[in-house]
Amino acid sequence: MTHKLLLLAGDGIGPEAMAEVKKLIAVMNEMGHAFETEDALVGGCAYDAHGAAIAEVDVAKAMAADAVLFGAVGGPKWDGVPYDVRPEAGLLRLRKDMDLFANLRPAICYPALASSSSLKQEVIEGLDILILRELTGGVYFGEPKTITDLGNGQKRAVDTQVYDTYEIERISGVAFELARTRKNHVTSMEKRNVMKSGVLWNEVVTATHKAKYSDVKLDHMLADAGGMQLVRWPKQFDVIVCDNLFGDMLSDVAAMLTGSLGMLPSASLGAPDEKTGKRKALYEPVHGSAPDIAGKGIANPIAMIASFAMCLRYSFDMVAEADRLEAAIASVLADGLRTKDILSDGMREVGTAEMGDAIIAK
Ligand code: NAI
Ligand code: MG
Repeated sequence: MTHKLLLLAGDGIGPEAMAEVKKLIAVMNEMGHAFETEDALVGGCAYDAHGAAIAEVDVAKAMAADAVLFGAVGGPKWDGVPYDVRPEAGLLRLRKDMDLFANLRPAICYPALASSSSLKQEVIEGLDILILRELTGGVYFGEPKTITDLGNGQKRAVDTQVYDTYEIERISGVAFELARTRKNHVTSMEKRNVMKSGVLWNEVVTATHKAKYSDVKLDHMLADAGGMQLVRWPKQFDVIVCDNLFGDMLSDVAAMLTGSLGMLPSASLGAPDEKTGKRKALYEPVHGSAPDIAGKGIANPIAMIASFAMCLRYSFDMVAEADRLEAAIASVLADGLRTKDILSDGMREVGTAEMGDAIIAK
């Protein structure tokens, strides 16, 4: 069966990191896999080519693909472009049209990197947790969303946190299913002590657990205490599930446990298709287009390559291949190869292509 991938490399270091994944895909195809790839423009380069952050035909291609691999978008060149066609609009459009409600952000600390971290080694060594953030609801999208002039020299800003039962059901379903492939443990975080949405969140996660996933261990934690625990002893967690706002913050906290931005992959999944059961999916590194290092051949390609490993795991059920790819990354790090962003004493500095080649060789 062929796997159709749309490659949206984007701007800055996006294409440099994507080039390493393309080499890897070519090698996998030589080994008998059947990936069919197509490139398209997104972000600033798409704006330059046709005045939009992504062309309609390319949105359609993303909708039709088995998975989308996304590099990064943006850069100073496009700082002045109109708001609705700014580079980020391309990514937001895809999230919306593909209804990518589940954002997976793993925080993994590779053994070879633990000792050079400024954090306590016993806290982070062997860390492997997954933050699952609801991505399409909550306070970022709820209405009303206004700033009103109160007329007495005061203004009032209103953001609205809205969650419906179905939104909490579907994200908690993803959390429990992911936990079953890992350490079988979900921690749900909200603030039911002060927020009605937290009360409903807690209620629906509990009911979903009872109805379909009672084999998975479920804990509840207030999100502020959760933030503290994430820094104090992150290894107590396996899958953490939370709303859009808490997930945004907690996933950035977790990211810093693991080192460089250049190491962090992510996946965004949609609902299963009614006919095929397959989820729409987009895989991207957490980092941006890094204009400060773009074009120099020194970007760390690991976040992009690890995003492709997530694609193998979650879109194509290629669990053994995903495991091998992640093991290859760990092994190359253990050999002492480092891009500049993760360089430490006694290690060998390599560029983007050499890091990619070393991982492929493994
Ligand atoms: P950034 O993630 O691009 O860079 C932050 C710092 O981390 C820079 O010093 C950069 O050199 C370094 N860095 C990032 N990825 C790296 C890698 N793979 N290897 C080595 N070093 C790496 O974030 P920044 O500077 O805030 O934003 C730059 C541009 O990227 C902006 O236009 C921003 O809007 C855009 N951006 C796009 C995102 C996306 O496409 N999803 C996400 C975040 C930012
Ligand atoms: Mg963030």
